[in-house]
Amino acid sequence: MSDIDLAVIGGTGLYRIAELDDVETHQPPTRHGALSGPVRIGTLEGRRVAFLARHGEGHSVPPHRINYRANLAALQALGARRVIALNTVGGITERFGPRVLACPDQLIDYTWGRVSTFCEEEGSEVLHVDFGYPYTPALRTRLLAAARTAGVDVVDGGCYGATQGPRLETKAEIARLRRDGCDLVGMTGMPEAGLARELGLEYACLAIVANWAAGCADAAEITFQEVLDNVAAVSASIPAILRRFLTS
Ligand code: HPA
Repeated sequence: MSDIDLAVIGGTGLYRIAELDDVETHQPPTRHGALSGPVRIGTLEGRRVAFLARHGEGHSVPPHRINYRANLAALQALGARRVIALNTVGGITERFGPRVLACPDQLIDYTWGRVSTFCEEEGSEVLHVDFGYPYTPALRTRLLAAARTAGVDVVDGGCYGATQGPRLETKAEIARLRRDGCDLVGMTGMPEAGLARELGLEYACLAIVANWAAGCADAAEITFQEVLDNVAAVSASIPAILRRFLTS
């Protein structure tokens, strides 16, 4: 299988990259089961890009049911070595309001009951991968440089708190995340980042802030429409970042 220059995993509200040319569709079986949906492989700036919608193209797979292992194993089997994860998130701290793009550098995992390692099979080697920097520093640097060249503001850094979902959080839960040092909250950042590290994939997150997290603004309620509208507004700038990334 020939190499893929970049794999992109899309989150809520991000189900395709319309700019890809010559798209082929792959859905390889994996020993970890079925992936969220088809992998679309096409070209952008003459480079091969793979795209996978994390929740499925019809947003039918909730965060705790996503087969993160199958998704990443399939991307790697198709030839991917680096992954940009697009994650729709809520903002907690001041710099991370709705419609901000951010490239976090830390995370805290609050999820539970998810299959979070490849070290599960009888006889498999037990890996204690280093995870002090959960996102690949060199990939973050390249991604941030691409955004700068494209003229798109992306906040450099921040801590992503990964919650279980699919419900949104209580105000008390968000207050706790804030005390813990989280700037962003989302439901899909883990175990994806940890599994990518186990596979030796380069992995960075581009987080799209869709709403203020519970209790961080006056709004009575967070609506899914607000989330989708904000993601749509921000995601328009993502192809420009990817183009610069691929030509850098
Ligand atoms: N919390 C968790 N996940 C999210 C949120 C949120 O407020 N917004 C978008 N994804």
